[in-house]
Amino acid sequence: MIRYAVNETIDADQFVDLLNRAGLAPRRPVHDRACVEGMVTHADLTVTAWHDDLLVGVARSVTDYSYCCYVSDLAVDREYQRTGIGKRLLDLTGEQVGPLCKLLLFSAPAAESYYPHVGFASNPNGWVRE
Ligand SMILES: CC(C)(COP(=O)(O)OP(=O)(O)OC[C@H]1O[C@@H](n2cnc3c(N)ncnc32)[C@H](O)[C@@H]1OP(=O)(O)O)[C@@H](O)C(=O)NCCC(=O)NCCS
Repeated sequence: MIRYAVNETIDADQFVDLLNRAGLAPRRPVHDRACVEGMVTHADLTVTAWHDDLLVGVARSVTDYSYCCYVSDLAVDREYQRTGIGKRLLDLTGEQVGPLCKLLLFSAPAAESYYPHVGFASNPNGWVRE
């Protein structure tokens, strides 16, 4: 039984532990404590999935709740992947921000074929200032 929560507090250790269990840690600044603390503290919208007391999924977003919602991190524990948790986290994120608010994200290479499954289209007009 998976429980979903909106803006339930998670700390930096729980977040990093999940990134490790999901396989996303190599692509996130998990060794920069100040950065990870900022990520969990200043996110606008964090949707989480829990199996009892274990954090098994997260969608962490920065958003104005009106026009745009940047889904910065989507991660599901490897033991729980492909059971619908990632899709549910994205659906709940979309419900929180409303139908006019676009969800935007950058895909990790391993997840490129995932996003068409959950309603995303790739867009060639994206730009990043590093
Ligand atoms: C990518 C990730 C978030 C997907 O979450 P998930 O809970 O395993 O996926 P879901 O169970 O919601 O899958 C939904 C659908 O996508 C499909 N799918 C899942 N992972 C997929 C993948 N890597 N490639 C293609 N399709 C995939 C599922 O089969 C399912 O299809 P269906 O609706 O036709 O049955 C999860 O695998 C993960 O955390 N991966 C490691 C971290 C990562 O790469 N995160 C993305 C960063 S941008």
